[in-house]
Amino acid sequence: MKQLQVIFEEKFGRKATGEYFAPGRINLIGEHTDYNGGNVFPAAITLGTYGLAGKREDKEVHLYSENFQEKAVISFSLEDLSYDKAHDWGNYPKGVIRYLKETGYTIEQGFNVVFYGNIPNGAGLSSSASIELLTGVLLQDLFDLKIDRLDLVKIGKKVENEFIGVNSGIMDQFAIGMGQKDHALLLDTNTLAYEVVPAAFGDYVVAIMNTNKRRELADSKYNERRSECEEALRRLQTKLSIQSLGELDEQTFSEHATIIEDETLVKRAKHAVTENQRTLKAKAALEKGDLETFGLLLNASHASLKEDYEVTGIELDTLVAAAQKHPSVLGARMTGAGFGGCAIALVKQADWEAFVAAISEEYLSEIGYATDIYQASIDDGARKL
Ligand code: GLA
Repeated sequence: MKQLQVIFEEKFGRKATGEYFAPGRINLIGEHTDYNGGNVFPAAITLGTYGLAGKREDKEVHLYSENFQEKAVISFSLEDLSYDKAHDWGNYPKGVIRYLKETGYTIEQGFNVVFYGNIPNGAGLSSSASIELLTGVLLQDLFDLKIDRLDLVKIGKKVENEFIGVNSGIMDQFAIGMGQKDHALLLDTNTLAYEVVPAAFGDYVVAIMNTNKRRELADSKYNERRSECEEALRRLQTKLSIQSLGELDEQTFSEHATIIEDETLVKRAKHAVTENQRTLKAKAALEKGDLETFGLLLNASHASLKEDYEVTGIELDTLVAAAQKHPSVLGARMTGAGFGGCAIALVKQADWEAFVAAISEEYLSEIGYATDIYQASIDDGARKL
């Protein structure tokens, strides 16, 4: 933070008035269910985005990120908050400002922000939602906005959907906005009802394993998967009165799957339905302290994402297979959107070093470049420091 203050003064010639932090997130289980009316089970992590901010006298917004030093300061006026490709990552904060103003919040004075994130870029740990919520929290503070946390979460999602053009669900913004230290959130994305569940893993820790294969949601098949699920739902609705795939249990789904009449669409819907049920089972197992069952559900989730949803790829599959066969691991799966990014594993803490060595070696020899492995610590949601 001291260093960031120095940078802030260098860039903007004055001191920042507030310091803020927004975490990244992992998802324990419940993948690609949040736009299918299903359950998700994410947690905010200690990796995230730091921000320093202060008001200006004019109507300009000046943004600088220590992660993109070569890109200099991004500036725009509060009078023109349209999407601009040249503004790159600055479109995330810009979108938040725009939708807050459109919702009726008063932001009439310009401001400066310095960002610094330690979430590896493109790692699928939601650096974008972290920037969105960080921006929300700093604007709330600078301009004394009376806004509910859930409304900030929804604004973040709207930025992703309407400003950036990724049809994502609400999981990332929710986890980052509402996260609680040492707890995971079981969120029903249909009703937004949620339960805070202790992330109590006993002798085990959650490893985050980065494939170091960058994934960009807008370029990936994310939106395609989403439309496939919507089409499968439309076909099921000709016989079933349901609003989302999340309403189906496995049996009802398998009894009616033939209505879909398309092998690919059946697989996509099957993942959405079974993953939702696995999420509920995993939450129950974790609450009972049954980590073996929890681990098996992680493995089953990965298999479904690989075979039925087809969003993994060689890098994630290699990492996850290496972890799953390691004797100190209870379960492993990709986390986030997939197509690269990160996987998680439940690893016996006492065997951590051996685990890291074994997985790193196998990944390097199979894929040809290194993985990075960290221990996840579960943190509170976005906040003023
Ligand atoms: C991305 C999206 C989320 C969710 C996951 C997959 O992280 O932003 O809304 O759909 O992928 O579970």
